[in-house]
Amino acid sequence: MKVARALAETTERLTHAGCESPRVDAKILVTHVLGVARSELALESARKLSRREEKELERLVSRREAREPLAYVLGEWGFRRLTLAVDRRVLVPRPETEVVVERCLARLSGIAEPRVLDVGTGSGAIALALADEHPGALVTGIDASPDALEVAGANALRTELAVTFREWDLFHGLPEGPWDVVVSNPPYVLPEEIDVLEPEVREWEPRAALIGVGTTEAVARGALVVLVAGGALVLEAAAADAARVAALLGGLGYVDVTTTTDLAGRDRVVEGVLAA
Ligand SMILES: C[S@@+](CC[C@H](N)C(=O)[O-])C[C@H]1O[C@@H](n2cnc3c(N)ncnc32)[C@H](O)[C@@H]1O
Repeated sequence: MKVARALAETTERLTHAGCESPRVDAKILVTHVLGVARSELALESARKLSRREEKELERLVSRREAREPLAYVLGEWGFRRLTLAVDRRVLVPRPETEVVVERCLARLSGIAEPRVLDVGTGSGAIALALADEHPGALVTGIDASPDALEVAGANALRTELAVTFREWDLFHGLPEGPWDVVVSNPPYVLPEEIDVLEPEVREWEPRAALIGVGTTEAVARGALVVLVAGGALVLEAAAADAARVAALLGGLGYVDVTTTTDLAGRDRVVEGVLAA
């Protein structure tokens, strides 16, 4: 089979399966199998796939057809400047979480060796991106899931970044700091909301990474005890919940509470400062 046909057939199969961006996914899967850049795909269109490439493509497309997230099918996903290993043990890092990292970097600016705590670190995305983009930052990531921590640890090795990962339940308070920044993308989907989510999320991503009741409040309360005076709490929130989270921080005594939008213009990142 030629590359052009493989691309057309894959697109058709993924369209049928109900994938949101079948053509883009097909291009990514075909280029992944061929080991070429997406910009080179057009040049390859008349080339024949080898037997091995055809078999590999079939294996990956079948997985994607079952609505397994593209990131899991590929086994890795881009986040900020890093390419991280991801699988069913961790949430796929999202573009809106890149804005969380941006807000943390703004808070860390000017501090040579800031101490940073990432609560619910999952793949280690936030923690590792901060270590990468603010050299000198002393970053710790915590998670209640030993499985997620295995992935985070593997990502630290893969990226050659020094981050400490610890097993910790955020409902038992936060590790003693003091921390200059506490950041978290906590699980914030309500149990009754899970059924309306896309199959990629609902059926494949870890429930413990998605569903959370009272997690945001627990992190906000915990951070009050472990932040340095003048330190910041940076939280990702659901768009519909950002105003409530901002009010929560104000009610707990945080000052300078601000909200930042994601690239789609939705309120997604809420931060506040522990008064000096
Ligand atoms: C929404 S995911 C965020 C993952 C990663 N920080 C990111 O932004 O891509 C939430 C993470 O919180 C962890 N988690 C859930 N409940 C927790 C708890 N009680 N204590 C600590 N971590 C928890 C989950 O295992 C999951 O890795």
